[in-house]
Amino acid sequence: MNVLMLSPGYPAEMPEFTRGLVEVGASVIGVGDQPVGGLPERTRHTLAAYVQVGSLWDEARAVAEVREALAGRRIDRVESLWEPLMVLAARLREALGVPGLGVADTIPFRDKEAMKVKLDAAGIRTPRHVAATSVGAVWEAAERIGFPVIVKPIAGAGSADTYRCDSPDELKDVLPRIAHVPSVSVEEFVDGEEYTFDTVTIDGRIAYYNVAWYRPRPLIARSNEWISPQVVALRDPDAAELADGVRMGVEVIRALGVERGFTHMEWYKKADGEVVFGEIGARPPGAHQVDQMNYACDFDVFREWARAVTFGRFDAPIERKYNVALIFKRAHGQGTIYAVEGLEAIYRRHGATIAWDNLSKIGARRRNWRQTLVSDGFLMIRHPDLATTLSIADEVGEHVRLLAR
Ligand SMILES: Nc1ncnc2c1ncn2[C@@H]1O[C@H](COP(=O)(O)OP(=O)(O)O)[C@@H](O)[C@H]1O
Ligand SMILES: [Mg+2]
Repeated sequence: MNVLMLSPGYPAEMPEFTRGLVEVGASVIGVGDQPVGGLPERTRHTLAAYVQVGSLWDEARAVAEVREALAGRRIDRVESLWEPLMVLAARLREALGVPGLGVADTIPFRDKEAMKVKLDAAGIRTPRHVAATSVGAVWEAAERIGFPVIVKPIAGAGSADTYRCDSPDELKDVLPRIAHVPSVSVEEFVDGEEYTFDTVTIDGRIAYYNVAWYRPRPLIARSNEWISPQVVALRDPDAAELADGVRMGVEVIRALGVERGFTHMEWYKKADGEVVFGEIGARPPGAHQVDQMNYACDFDVFREWARAVTFGRFDAPIERKYNVALIFKRAHGQGTIYAVEGLEAIYRRHGATIAWDNLSKIGARRRNWRQTLVSDGFLMIRHPDLATTLSIADEVGEHVRLLAR
């Protein structure tokens, strides 16, 4: 089993997926644009080969370079779990005659308008939406849909360049800020709670799924620095109040023809109970939410993903033992972190629930909280009871303070 793994060393979770592939017995050929010496050591040592291309962003050239470097060697799978490389992976599959999502199958995962058009045709409840490539078209779309609206890039990520506009005045303020975005989706603003539906899917069959709850919604978290955003993987994704969202997720996967791999969907639940589709990627969530799944079930989903894409199996038993909360912290002040307040008390009171302390240490530089959800690190806590999990998570949010100057 020869697997081409795109960007095996970056971002942070990719070495884990690469490890998983090696552990299930695949021979992994890495493809990246950094020199092989730039890979994490543990990744470099496990690769059967590495193809360094000139640039991962010049897709046609990268495909040609990979093809030449392979010199006819048979490839069984092309894997990428990083959003910006999904189309390159699809092109490589087509060029090398490898099964999996081709370019046409991948577009609905990359283009937020194509995604909704396809799901509308399948009868999925998406937000009312209109694509726009000019200021005039945005105005027209907003009038047609009615305020409040969301304006967001059709190929966005991490809530970047995404705005809620409650009135024409607000839209007028936002338009100059999105002038650099070539193509946007204007959507009906859907008020409610926001959840994920994440899966490992094997030939259209969902072998494993996870539901996480965003507290608060990502757009609010990304717009307010003082918030410590939480992502809570729920121990009971089969709870009655999630059933409509999970059902929608299953239908979405069917409609998009997911082959093998991770998927990450977001969906909204309104106060009146209606569930509405948000978006889906043919990849896992980021920000250590795959590690979070591992802590919820005490298994190794990196390895099971690898087994699923290569051999079509998910062998680990799925025992849902814990709710797992990720609480991301943003330091107060700029520069270097000089104090961490409130952490000792959390250890004293809830030390046994801390699965991972990833908080930046004293002396570390602050990170850009708008660019990384991880911000200045996180605490991951787990507990079998949801109410207890939420209350500890809120305590971490309120009482742990990183100070920078
Ligand atoms: N139609 C909508 N109604 C309400 N909130 C939305 C809507 N579209 C996006 N958002 C908010 O913006 C966030 C980012 O949008 P999303 O479509 O998930 O793009 P991405 O995560 O790729 O940047 C969502 O998580 C949600 O909080
Ligand atoms: Mg999103």
